[in-house]
Amino acid sequence: MATGQDEDWDEVYPAYVRHLMAHGTILVAERDGAVTGFGATLRIGSGRQAVSMLTDLFVDPAAHGTGTGRAILGHLWSGEPRRMTFSSLHAHALPLYTSFGVDAWWPLLYLRGDVRQLRSPDGWSVWPAEADRVGLVERDWTGIDRTAEHRFWAGWPNGAAVIASLDGEPAAAGTVGGAGPEYGISHLAVRPDSGDEAARDAIIAVLSGLEPADGQARVCLPAPHPAVRPLLSAGWRVEEFDLHMASDLGLIDPRTSAPSPALA
Ligand SMILES: CC(C)(COP(=O)(O)OP(=O)(O)OC[C@H]1O[C@@H](n2cnc3c(N)ncnc32)[C@H](O)[C@@H]1OP(=O)(O)O)[C@@H](O)C(=O)NCCC(=O)NCCS
Repeated sequence: MATGQDEDWDEVYPAYVRHLMAHGTILVAERDGAVTGFGATLRIGSGRQAVSMLTDLFVDPAAHGTGTGRAILGHLWSGEPRRMTFSSLHAHALPLYTSFGVDAWWPLLYLRGDVRQLRSPDGWSVWPAEADRVGLVERDWTGIDRTAEHRFWAGWPNGAAVIASLDGEPAAAGTVGGAGPEYGISHLAVRPDSGDEAARDAIIAVLSGLEPADGQARVCLPAPHPAVRPLLSAGWRVEEFDLHMASDLGLIDPRTSAPSPALA
């Protein structure tokens, strides 16, 4: 799942782990003194509405199928009734998560393409903003404070928080950035009660405002998101996909959300 690659990996991955250590929970499994796996969760939201997002679960291939993943998950999800993750397609992943009461609802598509093939929809403009401002706007819209993540994403290579406005009114808020081929939208929230058209146009407006040197960018979108069809028509390609698994279908709205596969 998460974060950068190649030369940026050394910078981005430790920062990602530090973020999880500060804001989430990371556990390692040990057998005979050796680490055999690790997993991490991040709690999104607070109180009874809080959702435990499984951000990472990796087991040493030599220990696959020996109950290590189940043991780590049992600890991470204990006392967390509202659960979600973006599951890999590894044969053990879906059955393991299903046994923890989360079901597979929709694919999260990793889309890549040329931003120069996109035209900003009429009435939209995209402006840089402080990460804290974007966190505040998203909290006003959703009731969930993601400021810590917006600060983290804005600190990525090429990272920047942005607000997209329709006819001068803020209509979407999020963060762009990422190392090398991961450059694109990290997370974008739209104003509540945005219809399909605004959810679609927000994605196209933000992507068409990016200026990567090679023109290439990435966005992760739920397969039912209304921006998927226009992006595919513009020559964008699905590179891979994860499965959104959750204890409840309503935890993420697939028609309006552009969540980060690592941190949602
Ligand atoms: C996915 C992963 C974390 C699971 O950990 P693990 O230690 O291999 O899994 P466990 O042995 O604890 O549990 C696997 C469960 O799936 C079941 N299972 C495996 N293959 C299955 C299949 N084809 N159909 C149904 N159930 C299956 C096993 O029987 C076991 O359940 P049980 O405990 O009731 O017997 C691990 O395999 C891994 O690191 N894979 C590569 C990285 C990855 O894709 N991680 C997931 C990121 S979302």
